[in-house]
Amino acid sequence: MSSYNITTLNDFIIQRQKEFTYARGELSTLLHHIGTAAKMVNTKIRRAGLVEILGRTGSVNIQGETQQKLDVYADEVFINALLSSGECCGVASEENQSEVIFTDAFGRDGKYVVCMDPLDGSSNIDVNVSVGSIFSIYRRVTPRGQKAAKEDFLQPGSRQVAAGYVIYGSSTMLVYTTGCGVNGFTLDPAMGEFCLSHPAIKTPVDGKIYSVNEGNYIKFPEGVKRYIKYCQERDTETSRPYTSRYIGSLVSDFHRNLLKGGIFLYPENESAPSGKLRLIYECNPISFIAEQAGGMATDGYDRILEVDPRTLHERSPFYVGSANMVKQVGGLILQYNGQEREREV
Ligand code: AHG
Ligand code: MN
Ligand code: MN
Repeated sequence: MSSYNITTLNDFIIQRQKEFTYARGELSTLLHHIGTAAKMVNTKIRRAGLVEILGRTGSVNIQGETQQKLDVYADEVFINALLSSGECCGVASEENQSEVIFTDAFGRDGKYVVCMDPLDGSSNIDVNVSVGSIFSIYRRVTPRGQKAAKEDFLQPGSRQVAAGYVIYGSSTMLVYTTGCGVNGFTLDPAMGEFCLSHPAIKTPVDGKIYSVNEGNYIKFPEGVKRYIKYCQERDTETSRPYTSRYIGSLVSDFHRNLLKGGIFLYPENESAPSGKLRLIYECNPISFIAEQAGGMATDGYDRILEVDPRTLHERSPFYVGSANMVKQVGGLILQYNGQEREREV
């Protein structure tokens, strides 16, 4: 007789809640709503080639990038799900210049704020390549009952209470952490449920994959150039040359490296002095997951999670993945590019 034992995302969230004596279920409710929103976005993405959804809205978001229709849809779905959870008092999102503050009594009473990239890698949608959603949850610092304020969102990543991503790939997965390890759930399309498929994810300390947009090589800091050359050199003892893999979708590139071992690099360059990726809703949540899986994440010098954010859409250079690889590129940056990163004001 075969045994059939499935743990759904919601079962898992509830089981974990019981492990914390004082947990009152607010975070569980919030995570549950994020899971529901992810399923809605997934349904839309899976039909992207069929419905009138491909293409651009014609409007431009805060980063000056053309918004895809699905960016806007995903943004709305997540924000509505968070509002209706009653546990969230505001959302910072890539698609909105300012934080979205929930002003009704229900929203004002929420204990958490969420920072998110509702659709990551969205330029890949038109060509049927994997995309993702990223989220990061903080306990608010302002009192409950009041409207959320800027300082609720501008907290260092080390204060995250939970973070995760959804990858809409050959299958759809939700991966998250609440600071007690990382767990991955695969969406069973027949059941319509995320089911625990990757419990207690640990990333290898050493990896053999490097992921970077090598087209920008000429513009990279010298230390990063040296590291890329190191990855490409022949050395049988360390299994080099390494494999190069770059999708151009942070969630997908990170997810592959998390499972297989590797490093993702998005350095600063001449035309983008802080790189491209955003600190609060891309680098921080991914860094929390990386560290919880035994990996590392830096801006080339410092631990990403200790950086004090100054603005919602601030960018940061980003090096994340297998600990020994991140340490090594950091060593070369220090050696060839000096002591400190200069942050943009
Ligand atoms: P988004 O679609 O949310 O703007 O993010 C795109 C990002 C990220 O997913 C990816 O790592 C990076 O852009 C790729 O940038 P390049 O095309 O410069 O390599
Ligand atoms: Mn993104
Ligand atoms: Mn995005």
